Amino acid sequence: MPRPDRARGLFIAFEGGDGAGKSTQAQLLAASLQAQGHRVLRTREPGGTPIGEKLRSLVLDHGQGEIDARSEALIFAASRAAHAVQVLRPALDAGEIVVTDRYIDSSVAYQGAGRRLGTERIRELNDWATDGLWPDLTVLLDVTPEQGRRRRTTGQAAEDRLESEPDDFHARIRQAFLDRADASPGRYLVLDAAGAAEDLAVAVLQRVEQLL
Ligand code: TYD
Repeated sequence: MPRPDRARGLFIAFEGGDGAGKSTQAQLLAASLQAQGHRVLRTREPGGTPIGEKLRSLVLDHGQGEIDARSEALIFAASRAAHAVQVLRPALDAGEIVVTDRYIDSSVAYQGAGRRLGTERIRELNDWATDGLWPDLTVLLDVTPEQGRRRRTTGQAAEDRLESEPDDFHARIRQAFLDRADASPGRYLVLDAAGAAEDLAVAVLQRVEQLL
């Protein structure tokens, strides 16, 4: 796969609906790669930089006042622009493996499909925001809205602004993630999030090892 804009590094994103278990899998992958002697940077969106963490609380916490859909999309894109230029590109240029919990596809799915702003428009906005920095591999942990809701309400803290949207919002998001993966199968690994965490981790590591 040509990667003309940088010499080294490998960029892996975990995506999926709320409650899919992305953080667990990102952590397991990072730990396995580190144990093999690789330099790994684990990060997340929204967040990953000081400005990104502030934007995260602005857009996710309840009680910040009304946030319309376009503002929400731009806040996620602004957070991502800072993340790409301050964190992701420097690490990739230094030859590191970058593992991020969420990236552009989250905006395409949540803001493009969930908020109905249009998936192509949101893809373009984020292509611009990141100056065209796309993952080498996206691991999609596919979760149904019902499963996701069950998982995140079991012993968890209160739902954030987006999690507390109704199931049809989450159904649109799920379909948008699957459509992205269908369009470029070579750049995606789609796994059923209902699988055992250890089994999912093995499948992810096998696929990543093919790219090293
Ligand atoms: P995250 O912290 O990953 O939550 P969780 O660990 O519960 O999956 O993401 C927080 C929320 O932000 C989540 O509901 C998805 C949403 N989100 C968007 O709507 N657009 C985006 O671009 C990103 C990165 C996240």
